[in-house]
Amino acid sequence: PPYETIVVERKGRTALLTLNRPEALNALNLQVMHEVVDATVALDRDPDIGCVVITGSEKAFAAGADIKEMRPRSYLDMYLSDWFTAWDRLGALRTPTVAAVSGYALGGGCELAMLCDILLAADTAVFGQPEIKLGVVPGIGGSQRLTRAVGKAKAMELCLTGRTMDAAEAERAGLVSRVVPAGDLLAEALSVAETVAGMSAPVAMMAKESVNRAFETTLAEGVRFERRLFHAVFATEDQKEGMTAFVEKRPPRFTHR
Ligand code: HXC
Repeated sequence: PPYETIVVERKGRTALLTLNRPEALNALNLQVMHEVVDATVALDRDPDIGCVVITGSEKAFAAGADIKEMRPRSYLDMYLSDWFTAWDRLGALRTPTVAAVSGYALGGGCELAMLCDILLAADTAVFGQPEIKLGVVPGIGGSQRLTRAVGKAKAMELCLTGRTMDAAEAERAGLVSRVVPAGDLLAEALSVAETVAGMSAPVAMMAKESVNRAFETTLAEGVRFERRLFHAVFATEDQKEGMTAFVEKRPPRFTHR
């Protein structure tokens, strides 16, 4: 489909989705939401794609939900249109996703990054949930995912004061997996994605599902869930191939099926 606010490129088994609304620092209006969701849902169904990277510009991953679009809305507008709920579909993708964050990731931008599975930051990245300064609260899961990622102390401070975190603080707090120099961000993200996309696709989906389960259930249930998946992977050719390749001292050739 001819997208207007995003650019989607394929690089082998990796897809690169670039937010492209430079005039608004990639503010996430409804069009961006629908385009990102449509594109990623289509990529998720594509067996030739094993990982999706989502990135923005050097200056802004995304400076939030679109304030100008939201400003005049009433409660009923928001409720009846179920504003932002389509974003949930991004978190429900089975294909692993990588957020490559450079510059501002504020409000909805921070929430979009947290909807991805692996979060890589440039040393220029700035994270925060400054909604309170606009008289609103986070609306795409920020109060929940930020709290799970960095704990109550920092999440409360960020959500109540609107203070932002730089990349180093975000890494110390456990929000991002790694910080890299801004100039290396995209190459690093694509390299991580290529690594993930080179694994067995169903096994990568199961690993993602299993980690995500940790946020939804008790430890005992989560471990039981993991154990069932662990047993199940022995039904795949990829388990035989992966272990055989190790024994034969060669790289594995996963079938991705
Ligand atoms: C709409 C936005 C925007 C946004 C920036 N722009 N952020 N438009 N929604 N979230 C627009 C500006 O209006 C401006 O357009 C252009 O992008 C460039 O932005 P500037 O402010 O001129 O850039 P700069 O001075 O470099 O400042 C960058 C910034 C600032 C610090 C990131 O733009 C900023 O504070 N933005 C808002 C950040 C924020 O509060 N995010 C949370 C959004 S609420 P014009 O045409 O005017 O020049 C959110 C809530 C979700 O996400 C849940 C709520 C229900």
